[in-house]
Amino acid sequence: MNSEQILNGLRSVADLEHIKSGKVREMFHFTDKVMVMVATDRISAFDLVLPNDIPSKGRMLTGISKFWFQETQEVCPNHFISTRPQDFMDLEEEILEILDGRTMLIERMDPIPFECIVRGYLCGSAFREYQKSGTVNGVKLDEGLQFGDKIEPPIFTPTTKAEVGHDEPVGFEAMQAAIGEADAETVKSMSLELYDFGRRACRQAGLVLVDTKFEFGYNRRKDVCVMDEMLTPDSSRFWLNSDYTDGNRGVPYDKEFVREYLVKSGWDKEPPAPALPEEIVAELSRRYALVHDRISELKL
Ligand SMILES: Nc1ncnc2c1ncn2[C@@H]1O[C@H](COP(=O)(O)OP(=O)(O)OP(=O)(O)O)[C@@H](O)[C@H]1O
Ligand SMILES: [Mg+2]
Repeated sequence: MNSEQILNGLRSVADLEHIKSGKVREMFHFTDKVMVMVATDRISAFDLVLPNDIPSKGRMLTGISKFWFQETQEVCPNHFISTRPQDFMDLEEEILEILDGRTMLIERMDPIPFECIVRGYLCGSAFREYQKSGTVNGVKLDEGLQFGDKIEPPIFTPTTKAEVGHDEPVGFEAMQAAIGEADAETVKSMSLELYDFGRRACRQAGLVLVDTKFEFGYNRRKDVCVMDEMLTPDSSRFWLNSDYTDGNRGVPYDKEFVREYLVKSGWDKEPPAPALPEEIVAELSRRYALVHDRISELKL
């Protein structure tokens, strides 16, 4: 079943009003307070949806997010309610099969319009900025750092959350100006605490949690809560601990694998996005499955 069939199947669920299609997820109205979020197998890169589906990706991401939402409730409240839609609504067998494993009932939030990125290792756009100016998001780091070096303590580098197009780095001051100093401090400290929790858990799973992006929103009581997805290979970089200790930095067990392929392919990042060859799809699936399995097997 491909993502289009999933969406068509869902549109036939008479009681659920479709709210919006994200690049990866489909959002449905359930009640004023609750939404149904369905993760398809779509993949986006450089802000465009690619033509290929990655088999089971939506299920893997949903499983990983559920694990973290349940484990980190004490660190930060979140939007998670259930991954069993059948407990809340009558569903035909056919629809249930589509939804199974890729569906989350979530508390509807008023989104905070920033991507809350935490980095524990120097790579990606942060490394490129550091090479030029010795800074990351304008903040000076120690001199002499190499690609993949640990950043201790980890740093918070928010960006805007653009509805269309690319997200841009912003200073913490911009976040303070937009949502107030107290909430900006809460978002920052929760991001750093969640990352620290994730990094320690991932180490037990033989993974390096290199960096990650969180999204936050306000619940009805105006508490800051974490929403969307959490510590998945779509929203984070993962490396293998064994690679890292062998000095082999940056072998990506996450979406970076696809970005690297696309850059090498010579694509100019203008739409339409090219299709991925079968072997890239298969290898990406294998890497996501490894991360999924290792995280799911954790006993914290
Ligand atoms: N609890 C929530 N309340 C309100 N909106 C939410 C909640 N959880 C997630 N969202 C929003 O729902 C959408 C999820 O869809 P999806 O992840 O496909 O979006 P996207 O950001 O377009 O894609 P990508 O993550 O690939 O950039 C996002 O816009 C996200 O901010
Ligand atoms: Mg998203």
